[in-house]
Amino acid sequence: MSKVLIIGAGGVGRVVASKCADNPEVFTEIMLASRTLSKCEAIAREVGKGRIQTAQVNADNVAEVVALINRFKPGLVINVALPYQDLPIMDACLETGVNYLDTANYEPKEEAKFEYSWQWAYHDRFKEKGIMAVLGCGFDPGVTSIYTAYAAKHHFDEMHALDIVDCNAGDHGKAFATNFNPEINIREITQKGKYWENGKWVETEPHEIKKVLNYPEIGPRDSYLIFHEELESLVKNFPTLKRARFWMTFGQEYLTHLRVIQNIGMARIDPVKYKGVDVIPLEFLKYVLPDPGELGENYVGETSIGCRIKGIKDGQEKTYYVWNNCSHEKAYEETGTQAVSYTTGVPAMLGAMMVLTGKWNGKGVFNVEQFDPDPFMEKIGEYGLPWNEAVNVDLEL
Ligand SMILES: NC(=O)c1ccc[n+]([C@@H]2O[C@H](COP(=O)([O-])OP(=O)(O)OC[C@H]3O[C@@H](n4cnc5c(N)ncnc54)[C@H](OP(=O)(O)O)[C@@H]3O)[C@@H](O)[C@H]2O)c1
Repeated sequence: MSKVLIIGAGGVGRVVASKCADNPEVFTEIMLASRTLSKCEAIAREVGKGRIQTAQVNADNVAEVVALINRFKPGLVINVALPYQDLPIMDACLETGVNYLDTANYEPKEEAKFEYSWQWAYHDRFKEKGIMAVLGCGFDPGVTSIYTAYAAKHHFDEMHALDIVDCNAGDHGKAFATNFNPEINIREITQKGKYWENGKWVETEPHEIKKVLNYPEIGPRDSYLIFHEELESLVKNFPTLKRARFWMTFGQEYLTHLRVIQNIGMARIDPVKYKGVDVIPLEFLKYVLPDPGELGENYVGETSIGCRIKGIKDGQEKTYYVWNNCSHEKAYEETGTQAVSYTTGVPAMLGAMMVLTGKWNGKGVFNVEQFDPDPFMEKIGEYGLPWNEAVNVDLEL
């Protein structure tokens, strides 16, 4: 018998809630809490199968989260609010002795800088308290990290090069929209690029390095090297990697809009005075762009995300490609939201299941690749994200 508290009622929260509600044998009681109660209620009504309780909480406020945890007494808190809430929710978990899981690493609001240092710093305190924090259990980070761990366990004696490839070949019919929270997304992709090579980080200008990569069932797409958070933990946990990079597809139309947004100052994260009130342009922009949670209705096409790995097995060079393709239409049919929210929410639910059923255990703070990938890989297809693999193929990289 396990109670789960989900914090955050956006596109990802909707999928997590829906998937938890489908699995009453593990999630015996579910509470969905967020800043705006009406959003929790809508999700409970639309995909909750009559199994979801709701509550209002400001997760920036540790005392409020502590009070909610003490009232509901969950075995695990799934944080699918925003990265800014990671630390206050972790503080509340520490105070109450409850396990924690999230899908994105902490970043401070006033600086677009995401790294694990802040959350890794909680390791000893979580360990002493006898609880665990599972970091980065969405798709990327999350499934990509678990794919890498699976490759290391079953396919290589030594991994040398890892390329994570993330393609969204979907079309939502809007001139410009982001697939998850616009503020977080634009902060992430307008940063400088960065990759790991021969023991150090190499920095690039934003979108400076481009390759045309072929994606299964999709075909060739412009793919740009960007920094992505799982690279930081993967090179630490798999030290034989000589090179690790992350590629994401962007269309020309998307990049043009992004450049305009930056050029006219709408990507700024410092306050400007508007009619005597402090306004942060990027925060405001979120309210005029389409809501990512509502993009699903006319979204067609697929995402394709995977890991392309080179290394050595039994003294021979080997390549390995493992990936998932996910259809926007199917995701929408099942949960009322598009594939980017779906591919994030399903792994968060399954990671929660791994913790609550004791398949993943430990005391302290962990990235998902530190756990046994097998029980997760066995089940992820069943819950909606089947994977494919190919051995000794041309990785194009
Ligand atoms: N690992 C991956 O593959 C991956 C991929 C995509 C997204 N993500 C992560 O998933 C998370 C959710 O993304 P999303 O697209 O669902 O975002 P979203 O649609 O913006 O939803 C965020 C939710 O968090 C709530 N929230 C924000 N601040 C809060 C606070 N102080 N207290 C309580 N609730 C608060 C929001 O409330 P309001 O409704 O009141 O605004 C909203 O319901 C983000 O952290 C994102 O970075 C991870």
